[in-house]
Order: sequence, then C-alpha cells, then structure tokens
Amino acid sequence: MAELTCVGCGPGDPELLTVKAVKAIKAADVIMCPTSKEGKESIAYSIISSIVDNSRKPEIVNLVFPMVKDKEILEDTWEKNTRTIAESVRGGKNVVYLTVGDPSLYSTWIYIHRELREKYPDVKINIIPGIVSMFAFASKVGISIAEGDETMAVIPACYDLARVKETAKNCDTMVFLKDGRYFDQVISLLKEAGFPDNSLFAIAQDVGTDQEIVKKLTLGEVTKETFTNKYFSIMVVKRA
Ligand SMILES: C[S@@+](CC[C@H](N)C(=O)[O-])C[C@H]1O[C@@H](n2cnc3c(N)ncnc32)[C@H](O)[C@@H]1O
Repeated sequence: MAELTCVGCGPGDPELLTVKAVKAIKAADVIMCPTSKEGKESIAYSIISSIVDNSRKPEIVNLVFPMVKDKEILEDTWEKNTRTIAESVRGGKNVVYLTVGDPSLYSTWIYIHRELREKYPDVKINIIPGIVSMFAFASKVGISIAEGDETMAVIPACYDLARVKETAKNCDTMVFLKDGRYFDQVISLLKEAGFPDNSLFAIAQDVGTDQEIVKKLTLGEVTKETFTNKYFSIMVVKRA
C-alpha cells in the first residue's frame, strides 16, 4: 500500500541527511517540496536534489506556502496542499514530503500533518527526523546550547518583543530563529533582562551551504554590522 513519508532534510548540507532520509527519497514516486512563492526553488529540494534517483523519474511537485499571517489564506493553503498530497497517496504513489531541518520545529509539515489526521485518516504516514538547524549551528560555532542546569528558549524572533523580554529574564540561553533581519531588535531588551556584556553571542546565516557566514563574539561587542540580512539565520545568546 502506498505511503506518505515526511523527510527532515537537515539544515543544508546533503551529507547531513540521515540514511533513512536518503532511502526514502531514492524510493519515492513523487517528491513534494514546500516553497514560499510560485516559481521559486524549494530550499528543501535544493538540499536533496543531488541524491534523487533520476533513473526512476520521480515526479517533483512544488507546493506553495505563502509567507503571510492572514489566517484565511493560510488555512486555504494547508487544505489545498494536503488534498494534493492525500490524492497522490490514494492514487497509489509513494510520496515524500520534504522539510528543512526537522519536521517538528516551525515547519509546514505540522499543518499538513494535522489536516491529514483530521480529513484523510486512511493515509499512512511515516516521519523521518532531520538535524535541527540550531544544532548544526552549535557544531559550526563550537558552543553548547545548554549545559548543567541551564535553561534555554527557542524564539521565533519576529513576534512579540515584550514576551521575548519576559522569557529572557528566566532563561540562560536564547536561541532566535526565523528571519535574521529582525534580530537587532532584541539586543537592548536582552541587556535589560540581565544578560551581561560578556555573554556569548553567536550568529550565522545559511549554515551548511556555500553562502554560510558564522560569527562568534560577546554581547557587548555587537554592532549593527554584526547582523545578517537573511531569513535563514540563527542567533544564540548565552548568559555569562
Ligand atoms: C521555518 S523554520 C524551520 C526550522 C527547521 N524545521 C529546523 O529544524 O531547523 C526556518 C528557520 O530555521 C532556521 N534555519 C533553518 N535552516 C537554516 C540554515 N541552514 N542556516 C541558518 N538558519 C537556518 C532559520 O532561523 C530559518 O528562518
């Protein structure tokens, strides 16, 4: 019976794919790839393109997930893309759905999975975890994300700044994901929340790709030149 497999593709380097991920991608009849705009290459697909078994001619389907906050548009998108996936599996195809990093962290898969369980309970689902971007980042920078009794928080940086400050007051490591163009907004509030100037500060964009940039300094050394200008950015600040 045909199945759907969600594959976590890791942060960007194809050598960081798991053996299970490679097997599933090579065996797929259809590979469904999330992208933010019509005609834009899927980042997840760019990670795995070199390992696709072209002799089997898998069908490559881009599914558009616009980056908007409008609930109605989002719900329509999840409904439509889930239907495309479910119909393909019901039609007898082994479908692979790709996500960047791991499927369970801020990924389009989370919404697809919910829709499938609700509306297409007959579709058999496998989920293959992937290396999470913040852990690939920690290896590159050579830092621990948390040790001993330290607490950590993962923040989608472009949201509620007052909430970020409250979280920072009770946390040792702050990991910021999603859109590096907003990261500069949180520096002063981290200091107000008690992070001293000698706290470790690390930032990176496009980890695991040819465009990778990684910087490690202290919170007190940060200037406006320190920041990245990419959506694919991570920033970690560890309380000294
Ligand atoms: C929609 S979230 C997906 C997170 C992903 N599921 C994971 O496990 O890492 C996208 C965010 O993940 C981070 N990210 C993912 N891959 C990255 C990479 N190669 N370099 C830097 N940041 C990355 C960035 O913060 C980006 O804005």
